[in-house]
Amino acid sequence: MLVRAISQRLLLLLGLAISLTTGQLSPQPEQVHLSVTNDPTQMVVTWVTQSPTNSTSVDYGTNRFDRSASGVQEKFVDGGSAKRVIYIHRAVMSGLRPGQRYVYRVGSELGWSDVFLFTATKSGSDWPARFAVYGDMGNTNGKSIPFLQKEAQSGDFDMVLHVGDFAYNMDTNNALVGDEFMRQVEPIAAYVPYMTCPGNHESAYNFSNYRRRFSMPGGDGEGSFFSFDYGPVHVISFSSEFYYYLDYGWKQAVYQFQWLEEDLQRANQNRANRPWIIAMAHRPMYCSNSDDPQHCTNADNLIRTGFPVGSKQRSRIFGSDYILGVEQLFYRYGVDLIFGAHEHSYERMWPVYNQKVCNSTTSSDNPYDNPPAPVHVITGSAGCVEGEDPFIPAGLPWSAFRSDDYGYTRMTVANATHLMLEQVSVDKGGQVIDSIVYVRNKHGSSAFNCV
Ligand SMILES: [Fe+2]
Repeated sequence: MLVRAISQRLLLLLGLAISLTTGQLSPQPEQVHLSVTNDPTQMVVTWVTQSPTNSTSVDYGTNRFDRSASGVQEKFVDGGSAKRVIYIHRAVMSGLRPGQRYVYRVGSELGWSDVFLFTATKSGSDWPARFAVYGDMGNTNGKSIPFLQKEAQSGDFDMVLHVGDFAYNMDTNNALVGDEFMRQVEPIAAYVPYMTCPGNHESAYNFSNYRRRFSMPGGDGEGSFFSFDYGPVHVISFSSEFYYYLDYGWKQAVYQFQWLEEDLQRANQNRANRPWIIAMAHRPMYCSNSDDPQHCTNADNLIRTGFPVGSKQRSRIFGSDYILGVEQLFYRYGVDLIFGAHEHSYERMWPVYNQKVCNSTTSSDNPYDNPPAPVHVITGSAGCVEGEDPFIPAGLPWSAFRSDDYGYTRMTVANATHLMLEQVSVDKGGQVIDSIVYVRNKHGSSAFNCV
């Protein structure tokens, strides 16, 4: 016990010593990252300083800094033993011309960041939206980072969806690991909006590092659940973790479920404008990894089915043996595609509902040509200290393609009817190892028929 206490103290002192020698306790901006709002004329920028500043602002413009906006500064106290403090700054660049390239820098009179570039969100929905999608990327062994940096800075995708599990962990070593990870992804996230959802590795101190370090639009206001429109897509991000960390309160899962239903109702009213609905949450409803019976082979997968009610009396009250199941909700509102991670691998499922595979019944030989069920994809192989996860050798009925190469997913939502997915293998130098074209001529629950 004493040895452990001494070694923890040594680690802390080492971390603080590194902080001092690298000048981290300074007002110099670092960890710069972007996020969208639901207004294409806005872009939010978030950054960190290690000491407080007397002002906080962003300078921006199309080729020179002819505009400036003040931001807000928040003192964040990590929950670790050192109660380490960082200062999180947020500012909104507004009045942007959709599709226009901008330059920007953030900071104060005490220090300015480098200059970064971004493209303002295009207006309307009639444009191909290009995403990089992945989860489970860490401070150590983050193998996809250089590939993602190159693509982000080359303008190859418009946005990142990071499907939970960051840094391993953001709170580790009094949140010094979180700082380091956010510096590592700055060459990606300062150039394209970096949209997120929480994973189990963010759970420390009630997810406080996750809730404070990102600036996601709407929802609960802290990035646990929110949605936004982007090109032909309505994107929904929600927390699978509310189903597992019940010590932090079970009501969060109820509030989120109510919000999900209301959001899906609104999204379906707007379906003519934003035909695709794509959802992401960290833990999978479907997978076939041999090391995860909690999710892959469990008929009571909590996200998929919800909580078992547990008694016949309560079943009569709720009208079902389960409550808060997301799969049935998504089926009822015609959610087209669901991304998960958590498994350190890539797996594309056949169209599936209630554990029944429902491939397309059209004359096309493409199982994803107007399939009568949603499509699930697990993309948790971006690279982390825990390595890759093994598969059940023969797979499960919904397994269509599996790989445990490190890598990430590219998604292009081309228009109202066509969506392309590609899986990039970092192990194979950026080679595409899987691709599909997902076609939907008609969106909404009436397109599903898999019971
Ligand atoms: Fe996870």
